[in-house]
Amino acid sequence: MPGRELVLGIESSCDETAAAIVRGGREILSSVVHSQAAEHARWGGVVPEVAGRSHLAQILRVVDAALEKAGVALEDVDAIAVTARPGLIGSLLVGLSAAKSLAWVRGLPLVTVHHIEAHVYATTMEHDETPWPCVALVVSGGHTALYRALSPLSLESIGATRDDAAGEAFDKVSHVLGLGYPGGPAVSALAQQGNPRAIAFPRFRAKDGTTGFSFSGLKTAVLYHVRGQDASRSTPGPAEIPDRADVAASFEQAVVDVLVDETLRAARREGVKTVLVAGGVACNRRLRSEMTARAAAQGVTARFPSPAYCTDNAAMIAGLGWELLRAGRTADLTADAQPS
Ligand code: KG4
Ligand code: ZN
Repeated sequence: MPGRELVLGIESSCDETAAAIVRGGREILSSVVHSQAAEHARWGGVVPEVAGRSHLAQILRVVDAALEKAGVALEDVDAIAVTARPGLIGSLLVGLSAAKSLAWVRGLPLVTVHHIEAHVYATTMEHDETPWPCVALVVSGGHTALYRALSPLSLESIGATRDDAAGEAFDKVSHVLGLGYPGGPAVSALAQQGNPRAIAFPRFRAKDGTTGFSFSGLKTAVLYHVRGQDASRSTPGPAEIPDRADVAASFEQAVVDVLVDETLRAARREGVKTVLVAGGVACNRRLRSEMTARAAAQGVTARFPSPAYCTDNAAMIAGLGWELLRAGRTADLTADAQPS
């Protein structure tokens, strides 16, 4: 596709404002991410209105920084890719409006990208071999789901969480343990000092054998453990939880066991030799090492993006955008954002 190689990607679906320049769907020339974590930390989670306003304040600066880092002028860009679904509507609209304006001003093709499909695509950008068909696990703050993936543009859901996403469970347990937001990195760091076998927290498995996840029972079990089995008691302060590191490690182990079991079970059922693991929780070191080892034991390769491309970023948007462009799936200036 000569002349359509350089894609500017824009991502603003949740609490990261991001822009990237990617050549040919794989070569990442720049990837700039402004995280709003500090702005949401005092609320213990993402506040949609704060997120939308912050995206508006940052979006042009982030796009400029991505162009500058890549050593590319806006005139050199061949197409614009933007996340249009799913996400917080006020956040999505900021990125989509910026992308439409740039596409209109420069007369460039516009492609709208599905955020979850882009997370999966991120696992393939740093490798040369193509993994299709495979099973993909997307595990983030908003999603925990398994897909049958036949190509970058063809994902079929084969099971999802019935309640909380895994990242959300990390964030809630972090709060209970008096650690910060986002919780994943904080819980994971404390878990390094604890015993993952100290407390037998429950592992969900659907009674009817169907594929899927549930983390609300696990989260409640952690809360009961910390409150000494008395739910009416308020959550004790961090200093009054003597086995905090063991709680963190045992919780993390329970999440990892469920994610690995369910993903490898799906890989066996689908008869595939590759599993892709994407999304913010794919940064988790225990998940990376146990998925890799247990997959290898059954002759399956597990692939993860580098940590910077696990969490929300725009390189994955530009990358998948290039695939959509190649397939002729461009959007026009009436393109709309969809929250779910
Ligand atoms: O993909 P992402 O950046 O945003 C969404 O699309 O949701 O994922 C953010 C989630 C947060 O819940 C965060 O706590 C979790 O990923 N996370 C982790 C780790 N790093 C980030 N969870 C466990 N271990 C980590 N090291
Ligand atoms: Zn995400």
